[in-house]
Amino acid sequence: MRVGILTGGGDCPGLNAVIRAVVRKGIRVHGDELIGFLDGYQGVVDRRHVHLDVESLRGKLPIGGTILGTSRYQPFMDDDGVDRFRDALEAEGVDALIVIGGEGTLGAARDLAALGFPIVGIPKTIDNDLDGTEMTFGFQTAVQICTDAIDRLHTTAESHDRVMVVEVMGRHAGHIAVWSGIAGGATVTLIPEEPFDIEAVCEAITRRHHTGRFASIVVVAEGAVPIPGTLSLPRPEFDDYGHQRLGGIGTTVGGEIERRTGFETRVTILGYVQRGGTPNAYDRVLATRYGVAAIDAVHDGAYGEMVCLAAGKIARITLEEAKSRGLKTVDPQLYDVARVFFAA
Ligand code: F6P
Repeated sequence: MRVGILTGGGDCPGLNAVIRAVVRKGIRVHGDELIGFLDGYQGVVDRRHVHLDVESLRGKLPIGGTILGTSRYQPFMDDDGVDRFRDALEAEGVDALIVIGGEGTLGAARDLAALGFPIVGIPKTIDNDLDGTEMTFGFQTAVQICTDAIDRLHTTAESHDRVMVVEVMGRHAGHIAVWSGIAGGATVTLIPEEPFDIEAVCEAITRRHHTGRFASIVVVAEGAVPIPGTLSLPRPEFDDYGHQRLGGIGTTVGGEIERRTGFETRVTILGYVQRGGTPNAYDRVLATRYGVAAIDAVHDGAYGEMVCLAAGKIARITLEEAKSRGLKTVDPQLYDVARVFFAA
């Protein structure tokens, strides 16, 4: 078969590992020919692609980012996008397309599969917010990067008796925040799923100071929201694709903590550092398992499906079902574990 691959949405550690796995099994076991479309769906409609063989993926397993490039473009964004998508796949003789992406990219994959395109999905995102799978690759690496950063911030917090606010990514889910908050021993962790009361946060930090603990780490998910009416935030901004541009809540929270408690406070926004660099061993393994399963799914004709992790095993779910399950939010039980250590 001639199989196309694309990576869409934000980059994340493990994308090259998954491409390598698809290519290796596709060529060595199934005798496929693989092509990689550049910059996500944009490369399909523009007919920009590269030939992928075993050699072209040599040494790429530990490399972050994506050798194919990525974009948030989807064919449905242009009036003639779907026609150009269809024409391109026909012209290139593509028998099946493997789409590696997060919510937006896989949502478009679902809609394209519903139109009859032979598509298999692979879930990726550092946010781990897709309810169709137990785990996306990239997440564990991001959590480790945040935890390492929190460990480093601890030493400055202790040396200067400061409150250190650290803002992490995750969009509208607090998985990165709660995992790195627990792993890093955060004093408080604020997540989108539990709107926060800034006054209660300040009281908790003040109580802690009164017990002689002058250093505190406050982890804030970029999508954290105050209880309505308790704190005014800057007007939200949106990117070209209509997604809310998150980032900056940590600055507001840090400023309020310093103003209300009088404790010296510093803010660190980890930003894209969380998405960069080499995937950890877990993400390399998960990405490799997904890649192998996806090319097998192609040969099973499992179009309109996505590979996923269910009870630790690789499984498949329809893109329709994955989309309808929607956003995976933080399990309250896990947040309760984090809460035990708040301001303690
Ligand atoms: O979805 C991954 C992610 O890194 C989010 O955590 C973050 O909000 C968003 O992407 C940033 O997107 P962009 O790369 O478009 O700025």
